[in-house]
Formats: sequence, structure tokens, C-alpha cells
Amino acid sequence: MPATTDIVRLIVNGDRHEVGVPTHFTLLETLRYVIGLTGSKQGCDKGDCGACTVIVDGEPTLSCLMPVWEAEGRQVTTVEGLATAAGPHALQDCFDLNGAAQCGFCTPGILCSAAVLLTRNPSPSREEIQEALSGNLCRCTGYSKIYDAVEAAGRRLLDAAEAP
Ligand code: FES
Ligand code: FES
Repeated sequence: MPATTDIVRLIVNGDRHEVGVPTHFTLLETLRYVIGLTGSKQGCDKGDCGACTVIVDGEPTLSCLMPVWEAEGRQVTTVEGLATAAGPHALQDCFDLNGAAQCGFCTPGILCSAAVLLTRNPSPSREEIQEALSGNLCRCTGYSKIYDAVEAAGRRLLDAAEAP
């Protein structure tokens, strides 16, 4: 028997999508396999690793745990939506400059969690960064370069905000 599908309306990175999805799909599955935004990674698929983290209405959200219908009408931002026409997000640039990504599998989720943190507090302490990223697991970097990159991005955002 074919899977039952529902029509859902999503706003992802500012773009509106009206798509048919199997009723059991999560937001992550819809982003990756229906809309084609594969930046958000499917790691554990059960809420443990943070690789699937996106931003929903300004909150870091594990998209593997969110039924897609729960995202209807809400503002979803994925790693693909962090950059602007002006260039990469400060975090993306600082991760590059600080060597904060190795295999990169965890990076999209970490960038989304860190982007929310810096929106709220561009000058976080190391402890606040650790807390904000505590749900994002990285098997490669040992974290210190990630924390350095988040601090550097925060400084860059503050400098940009203070520039005349
Ligand atoms: S894939 Fe969602 S938390 Fe691991
Ligand atoms: S860079 Fe490989 S898991 Fe984080």
C-alpha cells in the first residue's frame, strides 16, 4: 500500500514551500529528501547527536525529532540560510579560519546552535558557548577550535555592529 501523504506548507530560509510528504516524515526528512536541502545532517536520528539542528522561530531545534507538520507556518532556517548575499555568516568564515571543522558532519548543526547563541549574546563566555553547544557532538576536533571560532565570530559581529 502506498504511504499516505500530506500537504505541508513550510517557510525555509525565507522561501515558501508547499510539498507532499509521507505523514510520518520529520522536518529533517522533509528538508533533505523532499526540498533537497542536504546541509542538515542525519546522524543518530534520535535526538542524541545534534547534527540535524536547525533554527525554528529563533530556537535551535533537533529536526530529526520534529514531525514536519509541527513546523508548518514557522520560520525555519537551515545552514544553507545562514549566509547572505553579502557573503558567508561570520561563523562560517571563522570556522574556516580557525580550522574548526574536520570531517564537517557536525558543522551545520553546530553553526545553527552557535548562530542562535550569538544572536542573543555576541560576547559569550567559554562556559556559555559550551552550554549552547552541549547538544552538538563532534568526533573530530576536540571542541577547542570550535569554541575559538565561535568567540572570533562573536567579536566580528560586535565589531560590525559598532562600525560607523
Ligand atoms: S540526527 Fe538529530 S540529534 Fe542526531
Ligand atoms: S568535524 Fe567531524 S564530527 Fe565534527
